[in-house]
Amino acid sequence: MKNLEMTLYATVLGEGISYSKSPLIHNYWLKKYNIEGRYVIVDIAPDKLDETIKRLKSDDQWRGTNVTIPYKQKIMDYLDEVDERAQMIGAVNTVYKKEGLLIGTNTDAYGFIENLKAKLDADQFDNAKQKPVLVLGAGGATYAVIYGLLKEGFKNLNITNRTYDKAKKCADHFMKLKSINVIDWDDKDHLDVGMIINTTSLGMINYPPLNIDLEKLDICSIVVDIVYNPLHTELLNQAKRLDMTIVTGIGMLLYQAQPAFNLFFGQYPELDLRVAGSEIERLVLGQ
Ligand code: ATR
Repeated sequence: MKNLEMTLYATVLGEGISYSKSPLIHNYWLKKYNIEGRYVIVDIAPDKLDETIKRLKSDDQWRGTNVTIPYKQKIMDYLDEVDERAQMIGAVNTVYKKEGLLIGTNTDAYGFIENLKAKLDADQFDNAKQKPVLVLGAGGATYAVIYGLLKEGFKNLNITNRTYDKAKKCADHFMKLKSINVIDWDDKDHLDVGMIINTTSLGMINYPPLNIDLEKLDICSIVVDIVYNPLHTELLNQAKRLDMTIVTGIGMLLYQAQPAFNLFFGQYPELDLRVAGSEIERLVLGQ
């Protein structure tokens, strides 16, 4: 029998995260690449964070962790280094070990951009970069999306959020990279943009839909939703009816796992979502 105690492992750290899809993704790749390892959920209350991280750090078999709600910021207190992208995004979603030190990074911006590149053709992607973009939301995920867009060279970014001050704070945060226009939430369907990106929770299961009249957006041809449950939100269904190109959210989840898996297990997993309905996509969607 295999001695599990001697097997390399990585974790996802959070609270109330039994729903996490990350074990499905990482264990799929472990099997595919014949790596003797495992990936497990560590679901802990905040008062256990300190001892849990100390225990994991001192365990030679532990290769690192993904980090999710509610520890994406708090984890920084326990790390030896937080890289530049995680600092700019203001959150750590991946921690790995380097020469015994704990390094925090963030792979969400990479996941967002790779998904966009997979779902748009090269011309569409380059065109989108030249036109105004509207980002809806100003939560944790928004920072990763905006960081990704700015690093990729998108020229004209606009942000809107139900709570205006949070949109303003987000724009101010990125001011040193580029100026971002802040739009009033009530004006979100009055702006001529080539692409809109929903980073709010609206449209997610148990949330109301995002109410926006896409027909009013004359030059808008691409609609992106980072919500993946359901995969086709009402926003994306509306866009489809208007013959716009849609980008679903599941790819961001899959692509953000790709560099994390490499950092944990030393193998860059192959992932190509240009063709919808890949085996891993179906697995994560439970189909
Ligand atoms: P995450 O870290 O996943 O981005 P979050 O930080 O809680 O989650 O952010 C949720 C986003 O969805 C916010 O932009 C939030 O708007 P507010 O900043 O005004 O709260 C947005 N959101 C959630 N419910 C909403 C609703 N009913 N109407 C409009 N926006 C909503």
